[in-house]
Amino acid sequence: MMSAPVSTIAEIGKHEGQTVTIRGWLYNQRESGKLLFPIFRDGSGTIQGVVPKNAVAPEVFDAVKGLTQESSVIVEGKVRADKRAPGGYELDVVNVQVLQKVADSDPYPITPKEHGVDFLMEHRHLWVRSLRQAAILRVRAEIIKAARDFFDEREFTLTDPPIITPAACEGTTTLFPVDYFEDQAYLTQSGQLYIEATAMALGKVYSFGPTFRAEKSKTRRHLTEFWMVEPEIAYATLDDLMDLAEGLISFVVKRCLDKRRVDLQTIGRDVSKLEKIVPPFPRITYDEAVKLLQEGHAKGELETKFEWGGDLGSPDETYLSSKFEKPVMVHRYPASVKAFYMEPDPQRPELALCVDVLAPEGYGEIIGGSQRTASYDLLLKRIREHNLPEEAFKWYLDLRKYGSVPHSGFGMGIERAVAWICGLEHVRETIPFPRMLYRLYP
Ligand code: 4AD
Ligand code: MG
Repeated sequence: MMSAPVSTIAEIGKHEGQTVTIRGWLYNQRESGKLLFPIFRDGSGTIQGVVPKNAVAPEVFDAVKGLTQESSVIVEGKVRADKRAPGGYELDVVNVQVLQKVADSDPYPITPKEHGVDFLMEHRHLWVRSLRQAAILRVRAEIIKAARDFFDEREFTLTDPPIITPAACEGTTTLFPVDYFEDQAYLTQSGQLYIEATAMALGKVYSFGPTFRAEKSKTRRHLTEFWMVEPEIAYATLDDLMDLAEGLISFVVKRCLDKRRVDLQTIGRDVSKLEKIVPPFPRITYDEAVKLLQEGHAKGELETKFEWGGDLGSPDETYLSSKFEKPVMVHRYPASVKAFYMEPDPQRPELALCVDVLAPEGYGEIIGGSQRTASYDLLLKRIREHNLPEEAFKWYLDLRKYGSVPHSGFGMGIERAVAWICGLEHVRETIPFPRMLYRLYP
């Protein structure tokens, strides 16, 4: 029926002056007397069609006129450059085939008017069609690809850790239990412990996969299922790790600016803020961070006075990161607020050789990492202090028995990175189907 060559809307400029077929959905429609202006979308972009009553067959005019939002259509038309059009082109429609017309009696639930977030989340399977959500998902895909490219180009080997695990990596309070035949198992909180093993085999490794935390808090930064990219490097120190984190973040941001600028603009991101994300990033110690927080309290900018020894809460992170235009690396936290596997600072053993990277504009922690305890005896002591099941960590302790070396790694949460790079208010928009405390559908 449609004989013209098929084009995506994104590529339509290559066919200027020619007749093409596009396959998509009706996004919206305007009518002005004897002229119809349907806007079509196909996943790659949108284009406005022009349908003058006196220039097309009557059945074509009627078919377009009757189209309801999100009806699926195949459209044949001539591509015309138009400087005023958002994508630079318009389509003079000559023919249309309606695959499925959305019933007038049961219209598409998400209209161009405003909807509440709960309604949109309940219709997430449809909400992803909106131009803004589609743009966010394209940026997410770009961030993931950039992170992979960054490590692949630097001779890291991708090693996939298991998702079903016998023990905790990041504390026992956020474990998701899995009934594993006769045994108790959990969904992984992080691939770290396993890639420490593969790092001893391959030197430089990374993992990229879903991770799970039974977070009982409702915040704009927490999901119960999120994706993490984790590098792990034999012989690397905390300083090496900070260089790597800085390199990764600047690489990913630059890639998004190069390839996804239009999407970032669709989302409404102020890209000038992202242009500033170039090395070096500020590095401050936990002690210095505490000083900034206490000064903030004295100036009345922070409600509660932060005491040395505590972990940074969301308001503290937000405050600290608002002081810098670039991500800030906070290193050497008190060991007592951090995970069991972190190497103590030889200068001050009460501190851990760790780093959290806080994104600017109040986005909080996007990367957490550390140097790992190399000593068998100390690691065993820490496992016992944290009341972790020794039996389940036997293999992990082996890594400290057979050629133990200093080694380091970090994890970057993809959704936190997407939220910051896109400038989103909440992580729920950063993943196609978010899993949160009260959200399991769709
Ligand atoms: O700081 P975390 O807990 O570190 C680890 O899991 C280490 N084992 C990683 C490593 O060293 N290989 O988590 C790392 C990052 C955080 O900085 C944050 O970006 C993200 O994972 N993250 C979450 N993102 C969304 N929802 C949650 N509930 C998250 N918890 C952590
Ligand atoms: Mg952390």
